[in-house]
Amino acid sequence: MTKNNLGHPVGTTLDRFIKRKQDEFPFATGELSQLLRDIALAAKLVHREISRAGLLDVSGAFGSQNVQGEEQQKLDVIANIRFIRAFRNGGEVCAIVSEEDEKIIDLENSQGRYVIAMDPLDGSSNIDVNVSIGTIFSIYRRKSPVGGPVLEEDVLQKGTEQIGAGYILYGSSTMLVYSTGHGVHGFTYEPSLGEFFLSHAEMTIPEDGKIYSINEGGWHDFYPGTREYIETCKERRYSARYIGSLVADFHRNLLKGGIYIYPGTENRPNGKLRLLYECNALAFIVEQAGGMATNGEYRIVEIDPTELHQRAPLYIGSKRMVEEAMSMHKVLEAVNE
Ligand code: AHG
Ligand code: MN
Ligand code: MN
Repeated sequence: MTKNNLGHPVGTTLDRFIKRKQDEFPFATGELSQLLRDIALAAKLVHREISRAGLLDVSGAFGSQNVQGEEQQKLDVIANIRFIRAFRNGGEVCAIVSEEDEKIIDLENSQGRYVIAMDPLDGSSNIDVNVSIGTIFSIYRRKSPVGGPVLEEDVLQKGTEQIGAGYILYGSSTMLVYSTGHGVHGFTYEPSLGEFFLSHAEMTIPEDGKIYSINEGGWHDFYPGTREYIETCKERRYSARYIGSLVADFHRNLLKGGIYIYPGTENRPNGKLRLLYECNALAFIVEQAGGMATNGEYRIVEIDPTELHQRAPLYIGSKRMVEEAMSMHKVLEAVNE
């Protein structure tokens, strides 16, 4: 059998990879594997919609707003429906919380043992300008007993409780990157075959990097600690890279080494990004890859959520960069108190 330099057979499909991994965990029931297949199926459908977005009238505003008061794009709605449907059909999930829905989506499947938190379409402002967008997901085990009703405690879980997480990047190619707590694995979609193939085995993030990603337009609102760190990046002649799709900015930094920051400010102390739908999943992935994710002070995954659409500042990426940004954040905050 021909193997690649990482010891995996060339042409390993997602299905085969999941199966092989499942065999490595003798007590695995296969439900998690099925869940990943559901996600892959929805990803293929969304990929198809996105690649037709310029041709059909699916791009552009839908004319409604989501709970954050942001304009929903048609593709946000389509992606939300596709993923919900895939989880409903799969049968493993009892409830979903989505950036696009105000309340818990109860699938009325009391036998379902899993809960999903997701941002079905991340980077929606980039849809109409043909720039990469993504999907982000977290998988939890429900807390309440199987057979009973879904409770709030099932969906308001800390990131440390995730049993799996990942993202799909709809970019120059479509990729699925996931972890179930045993390393990070990346698959690239081959549309003509309709399959995801293992392309990035055992992904790790460089310990240090030279790329910083932040919306510097917010400079005048940044805390002194955030500015200090950005000044340092400039003094060192690091590269600034920010496209405004978290998944795309995160993915680049994961591969090349870098830091992504969406800071808190005086007016928005918790920044913009959502803890449950965006921060936790990427924090799980980056930690599995050897990097770090904090809110400037604590690990993201240790934040105890109190509401569904809660936001959190995000410092995520290469370990040394996040540590340095945090140290400046803390020191300068203390000086200013
Ligand atoms: P979403 O499209 O799901 O609302 O997320 C957009 C997020 C994130 O993807 C991106 O990094 C960030 O918002 C960009 O915000 P700014 O325009 O404030 O930089
Ligand atoms: Mn988003
Ligand atoms: Mn979104």
